[in-house]
Amino acid sequence: MSSMKKLFGILLVAGLVAGSSLANSEDDVNARTAPVGSTCMSGDDCAAAPAPAAAAGPKSGKDVYGGFCTTCHGAGLMGAPKLGSAADWGPRAGKGKDTLYTHAIGGFNSMPPKGMCASCSDDEIKAAVDYMLDNSK
Ligand code: HEC
Repeated sequence: MSSMKKLFGILLVAGLVAGSSLANSEDDVNARTAPVGSTCMSGDDCAAAPAPAAAAGPKSGKDVYGGFCTTCHGAGLMGAPKLGSAADWGPRAGKGKDTLYTHAIGGFNSMPPKGMCASCSDDEIKAAVDYMLDNSK
């Protein structure tokens, strides 16, 4: 099992290298058959993370929300303010965006740090907060 994983990882890296430099060879085939969205190279965690975390470049607030925050904020799990609910988000917004950012990044009661998106940057988390606020007025 673990040697299969290793092989898979090597193929991914080979595919990425081929995609960026060489063309026209067996490696090219590897590049074309490599799974989409496998641009995560440093560290092992990202390879096992859900799809949004493996996407290239900064994630949009919408993507971060859809990949992580929706788990709780979609249905209002454990008292999480629901997306689309002005009644839920109004009082939160009243605390000021900076406080919401700080709580989203560092955690707040049952709200886990970074909404459990360990691979998200602070800016990506802020974008997700903005996305929820903008869509809950
Ligand atoms: C495991 C469930 C869970 C996930 C996942 C989650 N949240 Fe939350 N969140 C909560 C709960 C519960 C609260 C309410 C906490 C409270 O008021 O005591 C909350 C509150 C918040 C608040 C309001 C904080 C405040 O000061 O009122 C923000 C902002 C927030 N979450 C952002 C996010 C973002 C952004 C994500 C995704 C990156 C996310 N959350 C993912 C459970 C979650």
